[in-house]
Amino acid sequence: MTIIPVAPLTFTSKSVDQTHAVGACLGKELISGDIICLQGDLGAGKTTFVQGLAQGWGALDPVSSPTFILVNTYHRADQNILFHLDTYRLESIPEAEELDLDAMMMEGTLLIEWPERLGALIPAERLWIQFTHLNQEERQLSFNANGERYQQLLNTLQLFISGGI
Ligand SMILES: Nc1ncnc2c1ncn2[C@@H]1O[C@H](COP(=O)(O)OP(=O)(O)O)[C@@H](O)[C@H]1O
Ligand SMILES: [Mg+2]
Repeated sequence: MTIIPVAPLTFTSKSVDQTHAVGACLGKELISGDIICLQGDLGAGKTTFVQGLAQGWGALDPVSSPTFILVNTYHRADQNILFHLDTYRLESIPEAEELDLDAMMMEGTLLIEWPERLGALIPAERLWIQFTHLNQEERQLSFNANGERYQQLLNTLQLFISGGI
């Protein structure tokens, strides 16, 4: 099958509700093995996006920021698992290796805040979302897909966003 490269997708969110809505759209599509990287400064909206995503995915547990415990785990009625990793407080790459990303990807879907801290541990194929703080209420979300699976997800997001939120 031919892979058609997709241009990166950019969206300006004007509210928390809009960020939740785009997150929920993505969450509905995610399956076990998917990996989503969320990059951006503190307060850029990564965890807010995860709240919407987890709701769309069908999480039974509330989302909280895993800053101190590194990984939160959310469950769904069908036993699927959503891992929410935040490497902000990670000290070193050896410490990162102990997290065993491969095991998480085998068992469920993986969301990573501060993915740039994991360097080469991040798989080449993933959806990468860059969050930029524009002003008090606005955040820019830039989506980059690597791999066919993530290009499909990006296409779905593109359709959702172009339909108006
Ligand atoms: N359009 C928006 N999208 C996301 N968050 C927003 C938006 N406008 C304001 N905010 C606020 O910005 C903050 C984002 O925090 P958070 O999601 O925890 O960021 P991060 O996880 O990137 O550090 C929250 O207080 C949220 O209410
Ligand atoms: Mg956060």
